[in-house]
Amino acid sequence: MEQEFHRIRRLPPYVFAEVDAMKARARAAGDDIIDFGMGNPDSPTPRHIVEKLIETVQNPRTHRYSTSRGIPGLRRAVAGYYERRFGVAVDPETEAVVTLGSKEGLANLSSAITSPGDVILVPNPSYPIHQFGFIIAGAAARHIPVRPDANFFAGLERAVQHSVPKPTALVLNYPNNPTAEVADVDFFAEVVDFCRYHGIYILSDLAYSEIYFEGNPPPSLLQVPGARDIAVEFTSMSKTYSMPGWRIGFAVGNRRLIEALARNKSYLDYGAFTPIQVASVAALNGPQDCVDEIRALYRERRDVLIDGLEAAGWSVPKPVATMFAWAPIPPAFRHLGSLEFSKILLREAKVAVSPGVGFGEHGDDHVRLALVENLHRIRQAVRSIKAYMGRYDKVVHTSESKRLAVR
Ligand SMILES: Cc1ncc(COP(=O)(O)O)c(C=O)c1O
Repeated sequence: MEQEFHRIRRLPPYVFAEVDAMKARARAAGDDIIDFGMGNPDSPTPRHIVEKLIETVQNPRTHRYSTSRGIPGLRRAVAGYYERRFGVAVDPETEAVVTLGSKEGLANLSSAITSPGDVILVPNPSYPIHQFGFIIAGAAARHIPVRPDANFFAGLERAVQHSVPKPTALVLNYPNNPTAEVADVDFFAEVVDFCRYHGIYILSDLAYSEIYFEGNPPPSLLQVPGARDIAVEFTSMSKTYSMPGWRIGFAVGNRRLIEALARNKSYLDYGAFTPIQVASVAALNGPQDCVDEIRALYRERRDVLIDGLEAAGWSVPKPVATMFAWAPIPPAFRHLGSLEFSKILLREAKVAVSPGVGFGEHGDDHVRLALVENLHRIRQAVRSIKAYMGRYDKVVHTSESKRLAVR
């Protein structure tokens, strides 16, 4: 009875929990912590969406169980979005399912299609559910690079050559959390080609489809002809409409995969609360200026944060999409690793970030900053980081001079 459960043993303790516990202790002690940790949008959901929820909830008929695969109107609305935004036709009956957020969809599709011992391919670093959905279902994960370049394809080739059994699925996520990497349709076409040849399913996570700042809007994998023979794509209301707590997202694509997900879900849930689904229809079919505003808000925060850090002596690439900055740990601190560096930032600068190692071993030389604090607080954080880095330089300089003097 004392043995740890098989599944739980395969889930390592959440790395973020350590920083979260420190953050909670600091706050309890009265510290004002500026929190760039979790990618939890802080803006309210646009008014017209909230109002539609309120109006719908007045009707007692909506208080009953909903439908697991989602109300038809919402599946039609997501098909409309794919048509408008990507020029992709989706059959709302057979090619779309409403999920309780994309995280639930990813987890339940992974479990629906996995046999124990399967090998799946997942980038490292990555958003945890990308591999743990499969690991919970008994698969083994083989890691491939995140950046969509020649190395990525070399990693894919190696993985297929050396995995026994052959990989059954590949997870893609562009724009990427945590690295903010983006991919274009040509890249997707090459991956689809490869995976069709080798009989590998693709799960594409497009949660940041509308959070972009430069270049072309992020494409859908389903724009590639033939992609729907092997792929399903996940989108989400969480970031696009600032609805993270509402728990609503979509899976769209290959019929067999969609059917598998729908069947699995039919045993597990009765669908999202109907008023949430009706309000989501209002979001997708209604005015879209709220999406422009959300995008503009993240862009402004991004600029203030990245320019500020640069001036403070910490050079961080400007993300072209997502709500995250993927920051290389400054050289003087790199040997500490991302968890220790995150703890230092919290203790010394009162700034919380996510240690990159929480997204996988190849993330350990970075930390992730989510753009979920307002401009005033971002500026405050930058000042505080700058002051600490200044002090740190002085400490290092003094001890280094002493060391040299003794020689
Ligand atoms: C890449 C990625 N996929 C999925 C999710 C989860 O989104 P949802 O709220 O739709 O479950 C997140 C949330 O941070 C994410 O970053």
